[in-house]
Amino acid sequence: MTTTDGGPENWWRHGVVYQVYVRSFADGNGDGTGDIAGLRSKLGYLSELGVDALWINPWYSSPLKDGGYDVADYRAIDERFGTTEEVEIFIEEAHTHGIKVIADLVPNHTSDQHRWFQEALDAAPGDPARDRYIFQRGKGADGSEPPSNWAAVFGGSAWEQVADGEWYLHLFDPSQPDLNWENEEVRAEFDSIFRFWLDRGIDGFRIDVAHGLVKDLTFPDVAQKAAILESERTADHPHWDRDGVHEINRRWRAVLDEYEDRMMVAEAWVAADRLPLYLRPDEYHQSFNFDLLDTDWDAPSFAEVIDKSVRAAEDVGAASTWVLSNHDVMRHATRYGLPNGTKWRRWPMTGPHEVLDESAGFQRARAAALITLSLPGSTYIYQGEELGLPEVWDLPQDVLDDPTWERSGHTEKGRDGCRVPIPWEKDGPSFGFGTGDPWIPQPARFGSMSVAVQTQDTSSSLSLYRTAIALRRQHLAMVSDFQLIDMGSDVLAYERGDVLVVVNMGSDSMPMPEGDILLASHVNPPGLLAADSAVWIRQ
Ligand code: GLC
Repeated sequence: MTTTDGGPENWWRHGVVYQVYVRSFADGNGDGTGDIAGLRSKLGYLSELGVDALWINPWYSSPLKDGGYDVADYRAIDERFGTTEEVEIFIEEAHTHGIKVIADLVPNHTSDQHRWFQEALDAAPGDPARDRYIFQRGKGADGSEPPSNWAAVFGGSAWEQVADGEWYLHLFDPSQPDLNWENEEVRAEFDSIFRFWLDRGIDGFRIDVAHGLVKDLTFPDVAQKAAILESERTADHPHWDRDGVHEINRRWRAVLDEYEDRMMVAEAWVAADRLPLYLRPDEYHQSFNFDLLDTDWDAPSFAEVIDKSVRAAEDVGAASTWVLSNHDVMRHATRYGLPNGTKWRRWPMTGPHEVLDESAGFQRARAAALITLSLPGSTYIYQGEELGLPEVWDLPQDVLDDPTWERSGHTEKGRDGCRVPIPWEKDGPSFGFGTGDPWIPQPARFGSMSVAVQTQDTSSSLSLYRTAIALRRQHLAMVSDFQLIDMGSDVLAYERGDVLVVVNMGSDSMPMPEGDILLASHVNPPGLLAADSAVWIRQ
């Protein structure tokens, strides 16, 4: 039975969702870019891994200025990725494997190549074609200054001037003009786009920049740049997390509720106390909880964030979501190798970096998997995380593709280091990703971390994930109890039904707690739980 209020039986409340950055997952046609054919060929792998759902980063027709978050046509698949018919077949095949498919929808902005934006450029100021976007006269007697001091997330001003002197708003790259969500035509168009994909069997949507749609159209200057990719206090900001977004959320939810068993998850980088507003029964089913991703490797900090997140979700009847990595942040196997307090979003511009302890990062990433896979709610895994892949921080500058690199005047490298193609084989031109050079190069060490190598090795990160996901399904997925246990300031511990989870986040071994060991992130010395390791114990 399905409910619209997100009852306990709904798949998204306890599912393991695997994020596919399609461009870097598997290349079926050998052109160096991942595609639907490649993805289809790996469904067996994903099924063996045991995931319940896939979230696929944007696959729509796009100039790929921002990796596909610049959509030119929401109803067509980019030809580098495949065709709409192929996607329909893929959805059916995924369903045959018992895997749901979540599409990524980008409602805040389109590509500048979208038909609407081209029409807006061809139209005169004041024309209805311009009203689908946010066009403004500039400041100053001749309008030559931008309408406000708003900054683009990727750097520089959020305003770009067009030939006739008006300015248009782009919270991201100039190639991503912001839509005007006060315009009813825009709202109706997205209802129709939702239905288009729902009718093709899509099970859910990840909504991009869900907290950015509504702007204060008086365009007041802001005191300082509010970064989107950090959970900051954003209430009262003129373009992040404005109350008006909730009306739009409700409109979409009503569309989804016309169908059975579909969900939507918000990418909303908002303050912890504002997040539950997105999860009210007539709004999102889920919202990514990015607080854990922002937490240093430290037991009391982990305990506090986890407990708060579980309680906040419970309060609104939603399930928590857990995320450690995605296509926008430094991979956590590297993050956890940096000293606590490192500003990793700005790191590393230069290398090699003496402060990175790769081995600690790798050990902690294994332990972290046993944390996120044992918490109540759903867990998101970013492709390659199951292989323990590190951030590729030493990509040569001439291959960098993220708009951040150019827009920041080559001061911020951007997010390419977490988007390097997956190694499937130990050898070969792109370690089995495809047959030619990949769109961005892989480091030599990826071969030894490949799926083929790790499949053979029962102690590999991949084997750990496979076992953990299977045990989770058996022992944890349907359990809602969660209770923190105090085992000292170096230890994160909690009970989930009859399973005790203990994570030694200190620097020394500790006595192994009593009970039957279901799974450990490491081979421990007899009677001990090693530093940076986690264990699931059946009590
Ligand atoms: C989201 C996406 C990110 C993209 C941005 C603009 O934050 O996750 O990759 O660049 O939105 O669409």
